[in-house]
Amino acid sequence: MNLLVVGGGGREHAIIKKLKENPLAETIYALPGNGGIAADAVCVPSIGAKEIEKIVDFARSHSIDFAVVAPDDPLALGCVDRLHEAGIPCFGPGAKAARIESSKVFAKNLMKKYGIPTARYEVFGDPAKALAYLKTASFPIVVKADGLALGKGVLIPQNLREAEAAVKSIMEDRAFGDSGNEIVIEEFLTGPEVSVLAFTDGTAIVPMVSSMDHKRSGDGDTGLNTGGMGTVAPNPCYTPSAAAECMEKIFLPTLAAMRAEGCPFKGCLYFGLMITPGGPKVIEYNCRFGDPETQVVLPLLKTDLLTVMQAVESETLGDLAVEWRDGAAACVVLASGGYPGSYETGKKITIPRDLPAAVTVYHAGDALAEDGTLATSGGRVLGVTAVGDTLQAALETAYAAAGRIEFEGKYMRRDIGKRALAAMEGR
Ligand code: AMP
Ligand code: GLY
Repeated sequence: MNLLVVGGGGREHAIIKKLKENPLAETIYALPGNGGIAADAVCVPSIGAKEIEKIVDFARSHSIDFAVVAPDDPLALGCVDRLHEAGIPCFGPGAKAARIESSKVFAKNLMKKYGIPTARYEVFGDPAKALAYLKTASFPIVVKADGLALGKGVLIPQNLREAEAAVKSIMEDRAFGDSGNEIVIEEFLTGPEVSVLAFTDGTAIVPMVSSMDHKRSGDGDTGLNTGGMGTVAPNPCYTPSAAAECMEKIFLPTLAAMRAEGCPFKGCLYFGLMITPGGPKVIEYNCRFGDPETQVVLPLLKTDLLTVMQAVESETLGDLAVEWRDGAAACVVLASGGYPGSYETGKKITIPRDLPAAVTVYHAGDALAEDGTLATSGGRVLGVTAVGDTLQAALETAYAAAGRIEFEGKYMRRDIGKRALAAMEGR
């Protein structure tokens, strides 16, 4: 089979490595892919993940048997709808269902209408009304741009002055462009955060192993928000009783709501949850695999990934037993010094050849130089993942490998998994 994966980061590398395990997978194309992915797939750097018509033409001309659209932008732009129109089976939601991520107003209104637990909120299209509302609010409060904003569209002002500045920055200075035409102002919730990615064909749902992201740039969850500096799976805060409550009150009702709205969700639905004193609540939905959650979740998947994705596409997921391996996984992101601010690129990367079998290095932001060596090309460069019998073991193996990989300016958080280990001790 000829497979195609749209995207070019660590998440896509993890998907490609897993797809490759299926002996039927002959050629896997990555559009655009990256330097490190080129070791596992045929990369096409000239086709960007948002170039929908070029992607569809490529899929047609290369007899693609199955496509996976991984990033949020092409999903929101209708890449899956267009591939389906061209007769190409694929994994991912259509544009209408992708609104669950691409419009926070859509997601919040869906949850309100169908009684799915989430933070209380108000929607504003008029900055004057938002500013008037803030005068009556209590703090901290959460201000979110409606649309996609590279994970940066959420602000948590601590007082009225900061909140007014947040509204002005999003709605008047248009910090996130059209994504800030409307905003959601919502109640500040507290509790541990859990990411649950789930395969769903619109009716059946198979939650994957839970995970924990580390979004801030600095140790101890300080510093700026990033795309994610590391992850662990499973997440010890996601107890069996929390999982049961999520299934009953969040997962199944969300699928039913999407069907009732005429846009059944097929693909990977990501639930960003907070386990609050009042029970689990939805912080956000994503219409895709998380990055770098995928880098710890897929290594624990025992069942063949392509088989699961095909069952989603053919709406037969309920007939498939999806199995997970015991143990844990940890991913430490190696970033360019300065990220998420400005950083230099083009730094030569050295990866030892004798890393242990438990380690997989996923490439997120690198490029091949003319001499075939790898050099940094992005903020998050590599995701060093290890699996182990325990989280402690996985973390030790991942950090040992991360320490042996070199590039100038290499930066990593030193405390990935620390909160998870503390939560396990507290149990
Ligand atoms: P999001 O981009 O929606 O995932 O939000 C980014 C981060 O902001 C989340 O991971 C949470 O840590 C935080 N956040 C978002 N909404 C809330 C909320 N209602 N209460 C507390 N923290 C929140
Ligand atoms: N790691 C969070 C995300 O993928 O949005």
